[in-house]
This record gives sequence, structure tokens and C-alpha cells, in this order.
Amino acid sequence: MKFCLDTASVSEIREAAALGLLDGVTTNPSLVAKEKKDFRKLLAEICEVCDGPVSAEVVDTTCDGMVKEGRDLAKVAENIVVKIPLIKEGIKACKILRSEGIKTNVTLCFSPNQALLAAKAGASYISPFIGRLDDVSTEGMQLIRDIRTIYDNYSFPTEILVASIRHPMHVVEAAKIGADVATMPFKVFDQMLAHPLTDIGLKKFLDDWKATQGK
Ligand code: G3P
Repeated sequence: MKFCLDTASVSEIREAAALGLLDGVTTNPSLVAKEKKDFRKLLAEICEVCDGPVSAEVVDTTCDGMVKEGRDLAKVAENIVVKIPLIKEGIKACKILRSEGIKTNVTLCFSPNQALLAAKAGASYISPFIGRLDDVSTEGMQLIRDIRTIYDNYSFPTEILVASIRHPMHVVEAAKIGADVATMPFKVFDQMLAHPLTDIGLKKFLDDWKATQGK
């Protein structure tokens, strides 16, 4: 399973990359807005820190506009993936960008049919938002199971990038289903590693060691 950080914060990306386990970064307009920096400059900085796929979202809602923005974003760095909303115009834009060899991440996916259409349009990644489905009392993870089954049935190469992850159990469940990528906030990345029994166990080992060998 590949791990992406769902952030536009360069310091967070730098810290996660230092662990050596960061496969990519996903951003969205809300995450970019928090950083209060020029979008293209910020993207270039992120792409310097992380050489894996970096998703950058278009903000136009017409096919022509999305294609134009997508082409422009793709020029920032080789590892840019153009993020496109799952609307009719977005599906058309996805096909065009795909034909030009530009990678796409089709975002704001909330149903298996939307995911099927994105795969047929040649999306490199599909981003189902599981946390936001949970928020409206719908089991987000069921969507991941459904998409996995559908993509496997037809051998679609589109990678399932589980988004809107809110806690470490979302990562565990997505991994059990066989999702290709999990994108998560920095906090969840940290939480995956932490276990109180590890800390307690390590303290005991080191205390016992110091009590004898350390003398
Ligand atoms: O980047 C898209 C997605 O991961 C957003 O998550 O927590 O705002 O629903 P969230």
C-alpha cells in the first residue's frame, strides 16, 4: 500500500518524507488556502521535497478550463498529478488529459458508479472520500470494497486512492480491502506508528539495561 500525505504544508511533508515511507502528496484548494502562498510556487516546493506523485487540483468547472489549467499545472514538475472533480466536464477533461499523457486524480467520488465512469475515462487515480460519507451516516469503507470489486472485475488500472481518512483504523480497513493508496493528514500518519505498549516496553527494557550494564 502506498502512503500519501493529505496536506499542502511543506514542513509536514518534509517531516513525513524524513521517515522514508512517503510515496506522494495530495492537496486540494482548501488545504492550499491554509498555506497562504502562491499556488505554483508552493507546488514547486512540495515537488522538490517529495518526488512521488503530487496531486494539484483545478478550480475551473468547464472542460476547456480544466484542460487548460491541467496542462499548466503539469508543467510545474514531472510528478504533478492533475486533480479533477467528478462532474461531467471533469470526466471529459480527464479523457483529454489522459490522451496527452498527463496523469489525473479524479476527486470527490462518493459512489461506485462515479468510480466506474472515472476508470473508463482513464483516470490514473480515483479518490473516494470515506470520512465525509461516514459524516453523513453512510459506511464510507463499503465504497472502497465496491470499487475494488468493480476495478478487479474489469482489470481497470486506475488506482484506488482512499481519501478523507480521519483515523488509523480507516487505514487498516483500506489496507485489508486492498486499496492501492491511502492519503491521510499528518496526525494520522503519526498515529499509525504510536502504541503505548511500545513506549512502556521500551522504557522497561532501557531501565533494566541501565540498572545492570549501565553501571
Ligand atoms: O483531499 C481530499 C480529502 O482527503 C479531504 O478530506 O477530511 O476534508 O474530508 P476531509
